[in-house]
Amino acid sequence: MSAGAWTSNGRRRANGRVIVCGNEKGGSGKTTTAMHIAIALIDSGHSVATVDLDERQLSLTRYVDNRRRWARFKGITLPVPHHFHVSPAARAAAADVNSVLVRELKEGIASIAASHDFVVIDTPGANTFLSRLAHRMADTLISPMNDSFVDFDVLARVDPLSHEILGYSQYALVVLDARRSRLHSEDASLDWVVVRNRMSMLASRNERKIDSSLRQLAVDLGFRVTAGISERVAFREFFTIGVTALDDFESQVLRTEPTMSHLMARQEIRGLLKALHFPLDESNRMKADARRRQAASVSRPIALPDVFAKC
Ligand SMILES: Nc1ncnc2c1ncn2[C@@H]1O[C@H](COP(=O)(O)OP(=O)(O)OP(=O)(O)O)[C@@H](O)[C@H]1O
Ligand SMILES: [Mg+2]
Repeated sequence: MSAGAWTSNGRRRANGRVIVCGNEKGGSGKTTTAMHIAIALIDSGHSVATVDLDERQLSLTRYVDNRRRWARFKGITLPVPHHFHVSPAARAAAADVNSVLVRELKEGIASIAASHDFVVIDTPGANTFLSRLAHRMADTLISPMNDSFVDFDVLARVDPLSHEILGYSQYALVVLDARRSRLHSEDASLDWVVVRNRMSMLASRNERKIDSSLRQLAVDLGFRVTAGISERVAFREFFTIGVTALDDFESQVLRTEPTMSHLMARQEIRGLLKALHFPLDESNRMKADARRRQAASVSRPIALPDVFAKC
């Protein structure tokens, strides 16, 4: 176990908040959300690490790479989180729940959390071991969800006529299990936030039904639903140059002139950050600084096991 990450009774020491972007449904917006939340938190003056556990696609790793490359090309400064992804050796071993590498991975995430204010973890759109592991370490779980009953189905099955909830789906059970495990092993709670993503500008009858089913399910499963993120071409264009809606559009960061849609996207992400209820005020920053000074004085700097590759 890495120094300083856990107490003798197996509980994690007070350290940075672990934010996991998760949803077994592919393409729901996990990577896009992870990058936006990471940059928003850096913007508000916090130290942020990102971890890519989507070992097949490594999309968050590409997003961060693209950002570095674009900043170099344009000769501008773009803040970048300390980014980690799983090394190829660990990817192969991650299927074996009992492997030493998997234990090291857990410890690695814990030591990253011990030396940053926030760790943002991106997970794959599938029920993998690494994804379940991340869910069990989350303080906040953000589940973006496309505005469709196809996506809703990952959380619960509904009656096609009455829209009554018939039963929970596999992903909801994974989260409930993670919440139980965290409460049991660390006496810590999991704040689960569902974010409706790619919402259309005009609310349709279908969307209103999703909204009402989601609110009903929120009570049953214990998650919060935030105001959503709209469908905007800008979000798709950001990836290739590694930028986000939070970046300073005036400093030639975009390939095009900023539009109203860019500004609206920024508003929506700021709204999401607010809804996450993270302690971002000055007193919290001072506490975080004190914690970092304390950690630096009693332990060595972050020593990651080989399972992580840093980029
Ligand atoms: N609000 C949005 N408006 C428009 N496009 C979006 C929005 N959010 C995400 N996208 C686009 O949708 C696609 C899927 O998003 P993203 O890669 O973030 O999802 P994901 O959940 O990480 O997918 P996967 O499960 O494959 O990892 C990407 O092309 C992304 O640019
Ligand atoms: Mg992804």
